[in-house]
Amino acid sequence: MDLFRQRMRQLQAQIEEANYRYYVLDDPLLPDADWDRLLRELQDLEHRHPEFADPNSPTQRVGNRPASGFRELAHSVPMLSLANAFSDDEIEDFAGRIAKETGDDNPVFSVEPKLDGLAISLRYENGVFIRGATRGDGSTGEDVTANLRTVKCIPLKLRGDAPTVLEVRGEVYMPRADFESYNARALAEGGKTLANPRNGAAGSLRQLDPRVTATRPLAFYAYGLGEVSVMPPSIQTHSQSLAWVREFGLPVCPEAGTARGPAGVLDFYHRLGAQRDALGYDIDGAVYKLDRFDQQRAMGFVSRAPRWAIAHKYPAQEQQTVIEAIDVQVGRTGAITPVARLAPVQVAGVVVTNATLHNADQITRLDVRISDTVIVRRAGDVIPEVVRVIEDRRPAATTPWRMPVHCPICGSAIEREEGEVVSRCTGGLFCPAQSKQALIHFSSRRAMDIDGLGERLIEDLVDLGYVKTIADLYTLRLDDFLAMKRRAEERDGSTPETVKAGRVASKWAENLLQAIDASRATVLERVLFALGIRDVGESTAKTLARHFGALDPIMSADESVLREVPDIGPVVAARIAHFFAQAHNREVIAALRGNGVHWPEGPPQRAQDGPLAGKTIVLTGGLAAMSRDEAGTRLEALGAKLSGSVSKKTGILIAGEAAGSKLAKARELGLEIWDEAMLLSFLADNEGGRDD
Ligand code: IVH
Repeated sequence: MDLFRQRMRQLQAQIEEANYRYYVLDDPLLPDADWDRLLRELQDLEHRHPEFADPNSPTQRVGNRPASGFRELAHSVPMLSLANAFSDDEIEDFAGRIAKETGDDNPVFSVEPKLDGLAISLRYENGVFIRGATRGDGSTGEDVTANLRTVKCIPLKLRGDAPTVLEVRGEVYMPRADFESYNARALAEGGKTLANPRNGAAGSLRQLDPRVTATRPLAFYAYGLGEVSVMPPSIQTHSQSLAWVREFGLPVCPEAGTARGPAGVLDFYHRLGAQRDALGYDIDGAVYKLDRFDQQRAMGFVSRAPRWAIAHKYPAQEQQTVIEAIDVQVGRTGAITPVARLAPVQVAGVVVTNATLHNADQITRLDVRISDTVIVRRAGDVIPEVVRVIEDRRPAATTPWRMPVHCPICGSAIEREEGEVVSRCTGGLFCPAQSKQALIHFSSRRAMDIDGLGERLIEDLVDLGYVKTIADLYTLRLDDFLAMKRRAEERDGSTPETVKAGRVASKWAENLLQAIDASRATVLERVLFALGIRDVGESTAKTLARHFGALDPIMSADESVLREVPDIGPVVAARIAHFFAQAHNREVIAALRGNGVHWPEGPPQRAQDGPLAGKTIVLTGGLAAMSRDEAGTRLEALGAKLSGSVSKKTGILIAGEAAGSKLAKARELGLEIWDEAMLLSFLADNEGGRDD
């Protein structure tokens, strides 16, 4: 028996400590879900063992004493709290109690989001905001009037004919977008960031200096009334009262509405839940309030919560767990993402074992270390992330995490370019983590165009060890495909093949081999594009191919030579030089050639060779006969250099339909101007070699 008593005292102490941290210090110790769990366990024990219940138990009061530094303010009407429900069944029970006591089994409810901020009472006298307070313990709160006056959406004067005394209750919260931009700015300026929007709201209202509060993006939604000198007799329901205060200029949550019976409120719950991540503010549940005041009176109160209202919670999006390891993942462009391996934890209904740490800067910012206890967050379909470390729980002898210097997959150096947040594996085509993506790109239609070699197949080829690099594709034999298919089917538990299916399989493999073989004879620009060099798209590949005429001079060109190529800027020049400087990339290219991939090579076609050599051309407005892209490519083929802006150096401006400021500027500068007809006739006269 004493065990129960002991457990109750222990729970009480834990909750009290957590409350103090949450309510007074604004520095939460526990994720909400853990707190809820402790409180429910205590409530349950108190229910089963009333003989051990303490009148000062945290279940018997709300929050804690006001923080020192603010004046205490007694609430003329107590600020109540809500009972919580976590399941549809508990809502049915709630509706059952109401039906039993009011005789109404399908009553109207006011249905509202449960806003995740801080409860506030605003007192207006003769239409003027005179003071505002936090909830505190429900009977006495803290006077935060000066801070509330800085909240832009709280009116200092009411519109219309307000009663002599009007107390409005609601939630001060921080809109999510404002929270994000506040943190982004704080980070850029080296300031302190806010842990989450709820903490942002609570912490900001508890600032002793209202000028600090004024810099915080706070907002307010009204959800109820306190003292009211005279209620107009026309207001008989909660939803009417919200519409009423709204007319005085107080914001009411736009998602609030009414619903009928338990089915109606559950429908609201599920619809709101589906919208949860798209709302502009954080919520942690839905609130249902019996709408009719006479029905509310019939239900009354227990301890400090009304029996006519309930909060229906959503699964917590944040949970606490421990970091067991920090690994790095290699993405398709070699981007390295640090990933936290977690002690498994349920977050919003899913077991989470991994969470992203985004990048090295984020880890430094959070100072996440292996063995740390952390808060992880999972919202909707977003990848779970580590939000913060609970530093009190850090074991002795941990060290800050460092980005590895070698890729865990291929051992190549990990590098981080200046000004970039992302670190990358320099392994390129040699790195198996990157090779799948490289292979998918390589065989795609606009690259080597290998028909039938899709993503699934490439994954199997790499996973089962048949292919590592793009060059390996050209070593595959018929038997390899058949053996791989068999192994993939075994792995996936597919049914064994019939003889007929065997024939189908070999036909499939033959076709694939043929497609691979056909891609051996190609053109330089395709190969250059297919290599998947960062920032080298089709058009740059084409420019390079034309400018150099052959692969070897491109591979040996240094940055300064590449920069001379029309339209290749310093960044792309550096990427190309960097790519070909990597020994393993050169090896892969040698292997491609060794495996019979070939293309015609010829003399360079430099700008000085064409009829438009040395001319800078600007294209503006719409063309009827072709896209601007196509016109650009065709002009470049004739030696022109394209530019996006008009200047004295512009040779010709080609003005299509609805040309605007560029045309005006060209006229002003007295430049040569062509219309589409002139362009088409020039192309017809000069593109001797075209066959279309
Ligand atoms: S009504 C008589 N409505 O939830 C009931 N509360 O535990 C008084 N909250 O302190 C509260 N959204 O901070 C009510 N639409 C809403 C709410 C809401 C959030 C918070 C509020 C209150 C706590 C109740």
